[in-house]
Amino acid sequence: MDLNIKINQQDHLDIGGADTVELAKEYGTPLYVIDENRIRENYKRVYKAFTKYYSDFKIFYACKANTNLSVMRILEEVGSSIDAVSPGEVYTALNTGFTPDRILFTGNNVKDEELKYIDETGVRINIDSISQLKRLANIINPKKIIKETGEAYKISFRVNPMVGAGHHEHCITGGEMSKFGIKDNEAVEVYKLAEELGFNPVGMHTHIGSGILDPEPFKLATTVLMDIAGVVAQKTDIDFEFLDLGGGLGIPYTPEEHLLDINPFAEEITGIFKSKLSEYGMDGVKSPSMYIEPGRYIVGDASVILTKVNTVKDSYRKFIGVDSGFNTILRPSMYDSYHHIMVANKASAKEVETLDIAGNVCESGDLFARDRPLPKIEEGDLLAIMNAGAYSFSMASQYNSRPRPAEVLVKNGESEIVREKETYDDLFNKQIIPERLKK
Ligand code: LLP
Repeated sequence: MDLNIKINQQDHLDIGGADTVELAKEYGTPLYVIDENRIRENYKRVYKAFTKYYSDFKIFYACKANTNLSVMRILEEVGSSIDAVSPGEVYTALNTGFTPDRILFTGNNVKDEELKYIDETGVRINIDSISQLKRLANIINPKKIIKETGEAYKISFRVNPMVGAGHHEHCITGGEMSKFGIKDNEAVEVYKLAEELGFNPVGMHTHIGSGILDPEPFKLATTVLMDIAGVVAQKTDIDFEFLDLGGGLGIPYTPEEHLLDINPFAEEITGIFKSKLSEYGMDGVKSPSMYIEPGRYIVGDASVILTKVNTVKDSYRKFIGVDSGFNTILRPSMYDSYHHIMVANKASAKEVETLDIAGNVCESGDLFARDRPLPKIEEGDLLAIMNAGAYSFSMASQYNSRPRPAEVLVKNGESEIVREKETYDDLFNKQIIPERLKK
């Protein structure tokens, strides 16, 4: 595990140069702490690795991982584009400075009102089903658009490459059990249909799953996607402007795991990409751009959640009770995911016992760790739940009527609040009690 944290002279955990014990004092707990520089580093590492081998390359940050407005601003500044899954994410991206050409909308089971909204924003639609294609045609009338503008409406398709991988079965998005994308073996027909309807299909996309540390499934998916695109290019007159390999790059969560070595990875993936372009004659002057859509890799290890121990309970097991729960980070309960936990106020203390770390939600599954080797923990200690930058706040809820915690951004030791802690009144947001029920 390659943690992006340091232990300072007080034996406290530092993130982004800021002392977590001081942050907890200043802002209270639970608290999400985001390290700005780490996000920038993660982005640059991927960008540099891939552009070394294929210069026409773009990163579409999958903002479902973390849509904090300041995180979006950081990614806009570094030059990222956005993979958006919903009109809300498109709205968020547009409002944080991303121009429509830097956003790709890849929705699933998208309804007509949503298609209308996306169309109005000018954001490119990556189509997930034949139903969506036909409904979009009804909504925008692509033939009329050609008549009026002389140019066809550009779209792309998500294809199921029948290759899937992921850290949990819920996070595998390719293969016959997957609800995503058009079928691999109907791609030619679907691209032809799109052209008949008056569209200009300029891209092909796939995303095989999330939390993948093994390069092999990515290599296989890249090969398959390139073969599908190659056959489509040969059997139609389509010139692909881009081929999008999706996201899914994992990060190390457990002590045994290590960050994927991005340079050889980029070399291998771009190698397959380029050789397939030449195999199918797609490597001419107008050869397609290569896109990828990492979410977790960009933001996952840039944050921790600080949570305070309020209860040490010797029951049939030894429980350490903290002031946050699965409403703050759902991953351990939902996927049985491992998140490393450190004692932030005695960061180098040795592990002496195995403990269960339990949240404050009224459910037995609300556990951050079972049988975890940890130092001696006392009430008042501060725990840091590591790697909490991806799919943590974005999956947080107010379950048990707990307002969501604050988020703080740190950079070079300085901290700023970027999302205020919710209040009890926020729990009533948008609710209306009918007159007859009012007291
Ligand atoms: N592109 C598409 C079309 C996606 O659906 C996703 C993630 C990504 C890119 C980014 O995947 P990443 O690089 O972050 O692995 N809640 C789960 C993860 C769900 C991922 C959903 N789609 C978790 O906490 O592990």
